[in-house]
Amino acid sequence: DFKPLVFSGVQPTGNLHLGNYLGAIRKFVALQENNDCIYCVVDLHAITNQLVHEDMPNQIRSIAAAFIASGIDPKKHIVFNQSAVPQHAELAWIFNCVARIGWMERMTQFKDKTGGKNAEQASLGLLAYPSLMAADILVYRATHVPVGDDQKQHLELARDIAMKFNVDFEQHIARTSYGIDITVGEQPVHAYFPMVEPLIGGPAPRVMSLRDGTKKMSKSDASDLSRVNLMDDAETISKKIRKAKTDPDALPSETDGLKGRAEAENLVGIYAALSDKTKQQVLDEFGGQQFSVFKPALVDLAVNVLSPITQEMRQLMDDTSHIDAILRDGGERARARAEVTMKEVREIIGF
Ligand code: ADP
Ligand code: NA
Repeated sequence: DFKPLVFSGVQPTGNLHLGNYLGAIRKFVALQENNDCIYCVVDLHAITNQLVHEDMPNQIRSIAAAFIASGIDPKKHIVFNQSAVPQHAELAWIFNCVARIGWMERMTQFKDKTGGKNAEQASLGLLAYPSLMAADILVYRATHVPVGDDQKQHLELARDIAMKFNVDFEQHIARTSYGIDITVGEQPVHAYFPMVEPLIGGPAPRVMSLRDGTKKMSKSDASDLSRVNLMDDAETISKKIRKAKTDPDALPSETDGLKGRAEAENLVGIYAALSDKTKQQVLDEFGGQQFSVFKPALVDLAVNVLSPITQEMRQLMDDTSHIDAILRDGGERARARAEVTMKEVREIIGF
């Protein structure tokens, strides 16, 4: 089988929030122990929705700084930005020709971001976004992708693209020594690309808005009160959590009691994730208590976990030479690995 390899990316678009941290970055940190990991600042993705960005170089640095401040080791693993490795875009073009327009149009994120009816005015890049994401992962033939629950559908599409490439080029792959025999479901396939496995889960696989428990916490939410940002100071975190929407009831003592209480479930999930507990363990402690008791405890926990990260991010952004050196070195190592794949892919295709 394919050797386990972890890949994931975060867009350099504005403030990182608690959803990005719990859904992605914290998992990146945990996976370093037993895996070879590649973590990418996906700047090519950041221009799909909005072409021109205020101070892109510092936005890229700040994501890399968040990775480092959270505990990612850039010497043992690879931290870099996507545009430094042109092989991502090259493979994405090939995947654009493998994937079908209908697959892209079905993506709920595309529909959400275009509001459905404005789809014709969206950039072609926004439609093809999942194809580039598949290329990001598969240009390293990565097998495992830690992400938030919002990326699940895109990862299924990455599997579909890998599968179609493997099947469409089966004869060509067989003529090289690069393929591997795998089974997909029950089916034996001589594959060049692995079937990626999403790593989604934990007590807060999707962190919801603090203002509306039915919407995910997002950088693009107009209300800054809807999210805790990694760069928020203690006072701001406290204000946002105290103002978070809740219901008038006490916390239940069993997780079943969270059903139909989206805001309560979200805050309990955040507490559980930040304290490495299950939701039930949190309810064992706070069941029967009012939010007036639970919220201050959540504020303390969030400040304790986030403030050392915020502080280190600030230091790294004060003198950017360290981050720039990390990105340069990571870019070189990533390029060398991506080029191994692309040489083989070009040969498989016949270029
Ligand atoms: P955003 O969705 O805020 O624009 P990205 O698309 O760059 O952020 O996502 C970076 C990572 O953070 C992805 O793995 C994504 O799944 C995760 N993520 C984003 N928002 C959330 C959320 N609300 N809850 C959990 N994970 C999230
Ligand atoms: Na996202």
